[in-house]
Amino acid sequence: TKLWKPSAQPKESDVSIQEAANLLREQQVVAFPTETVYGLGADATNESAVKRIFEAKGRPSDNPLIVHVASIREVEDLVTHIPQVARKLMERFWPGPLTLILESNGTASKNVTAGLKTVAIRMPDHALALALLKAAELPLAAPSANRSGRPSPTKAEHVRQDLEGRIAGILDGGPTGVGVESTVLDCTSEIPAILRPGGITKEDLEEVLPEVKIDPALTGKDTPPVSPGMKYTHYAPESPLWLIKGEDEFFRNQLHELQEEGYRIGVIASNELAEKLHHDFVLPCGSRENLTEVANRLYEVLREYKKSDIDLILCESFPNYGVGAAVMNRLTKASVKIIEQP
Ligand code: TXA
Ligand code: MG
Repeated sequence: TKLWKPSAQPKESDVSIQEAANLLREQQVVAFPTETVYGLGADATNESAVKRIFEAKGRPSDNPLIVHVASIREVEDLVTHIPQVARKLMERFWPGPLTLILESNGTASKNVTAGLKTVAIRMPDHALALALLKAAELPLAAPSANRSGRPSPTKAEHVRQDLEGRIAGILDGGPTGVGVESTVLDCTSEIPAILRPGGITKEDLEEVLPEVKIDPALTGKDTPPVSPGMKYTHYAPESPLWLIKGEDEFFRNQLHELQEEGYRIGVIASNELAEKLHHDFVLPCGSRENLTEVANRLYEVLREYKKSDIDLILCESFPNYGVGAAVMNRLTKASVKIIEQP
């Protein structure tokens, strides 16, 4: 568990751990930091409290939520049983960015599980989150604390931008660490399956598990709609994002061609490519050699470009291994077009 530091300037929406815990016990929703992204929490056993999460986010209620706990003991209260393999994973990776799908015993509210027979559970690796869970003495359902469709929040400021006035309070813990959401692993199938790549990588899991599957929905050609005008719904920046797959020279040519057509272009690129481009609007998001840094910066740079300044965002692709798999999963969903070098 790492150290945390609140933002320098306290804000009106700020609450203390005890205030947040009290609000949660009164069925209110409160945003809190985790090691991945900020979550929007509510009592996971209370249907009307959980309903407030969906209302604040504008999230469709057929999408189930993750339940956060502070101990393995609390998991036993939520599931029919804990399979051996899940217990092994908890011991190895909790607290940490790994969410396990287990068989629900019905304690989690129906709108947490979206009516499924399973429930998603994780123990966050963040001192404030754990302190809040202990103070509230409740399992907390918490999706990312952003308006539905927007990039997930990695700072309290991002939560304010999206949800100020719509939620009871924000527990400010400064910037989060991992920067992308937890890995979601289905432990109800014979061979555990990754449903969402995240902070704990496939390679990490393979150190403990003899075999790990990747959900076919993830490996299938996940091609986004082709027109930048089309509606996109995930992690979306203000301006349409095109993902470029190819060498640096290919990227540079795409950039120049589009500029000549009159587009105002913002670039998101590795430090290495950013340096070569000599372009006015470039946000470097870390070194190619350091995908952990890229994951940490990703959502912040996606939030940074404003549509008043930029018509189009061109974004570099990153290697698809380690935490790069999570980065590419989010970028693919955030993009409206993928341009591959022939
Ligand atoms: O890092 C994280 O996981 C963050 C922080 C706040 O903990 N939370 C988060 O929650 O990302 P959310 O609601 O944005 O993502 C929940 C994911 C979704 O992909 C959802 O489909 C999946 O978990 N999920 C939840 N319950 C499930 C279930 N019973 N079966 C399959 N997938 C489930
Ligand atoms: Mg989310």
